[in-house]
Amino acid sequence: QHIPVICIDGPTASGKGTLAAALAKRLGYHFLDSGAMYRITALAATGAGLPIDTSGETAIASLVQDLSITFTAGQILLDGVDVTEAIRSEANGMNASKVSALPQVRAALVDLQHSFHRLPGLVADGRDMGSAIFPQAPLKVFLTASAAERAQRRFKQLISKGISTTLDSLRADLEARDERDQTRSASPLKPAQDAVLLDNSDLSVEKSVDLVVGWWLGKQ
Ligand code: C5P
Repeated sequence: QHIPVICIDGPTASGKGTLAAALAKRLGYHFLDSGAMYRITALAATGAGLPIDTSGETAIASLVQDLSITFTAGQILLDGVDVTEAIRSEANGMNASKVSALPQVRAALVDLQHSFHRLPGLVADGRDMGSAIFPQAPLKVFLTASAAERAQRRFKQLISKGISTTLDSLRADLEARDERDQTRSASPLKPAQDAVLLDNSDLSVEKSVDLVVGWWLGKQ
């Protein structure tokens, strides 16, 4: 049976997560936060004391097979422990970017990502949803925003959580992460050939959701 899937890919802090979650809610579809899987893997690997580079690759990939990951309403559990907040730190995000460059780790996470593709449909958020995981998806959106705008958004997010940081360091971090995500050889961050590019630097979340829902309905 044909199961609908919409892919939302793009760089760090482009607003993919917000857009994809709102879209899933609007359409009544499942939501896949694939970045969370790399973040969980990074947390588990550092917790197990494994080096996050090629020397730890095989061990991390086999660790992934043994992890019990549960996504419940607004909560992410790793082996029964609530890691919803812990996986979101900047340090863990940087480690997630490092584990995600390891091909064996990417391969180990494919089945878990595919398992979210169920009726009535899926909105998948990530870097390679359209280019590698769901190449058959009829709608692929590649979401971007300027680095300045993305740093500003992340800054507001962290400050509102009471985490102190500076705009300059955030921008430097996200540019480093973009660079690593774009230049790795395994599924680098780049728009799928048939992706629609959407720059949301000057768009509200609501406008972006309306736009994508319109594109989706146009495909039906
Ligand atoms: O989207 P988020 O910032 O949570 O993702 C964390 C990291 O996981 C990214 O910097 C990226 O390196 C990696 N990632 C990936 N492929 C995906 C989703 C995330 O490589 N599909």
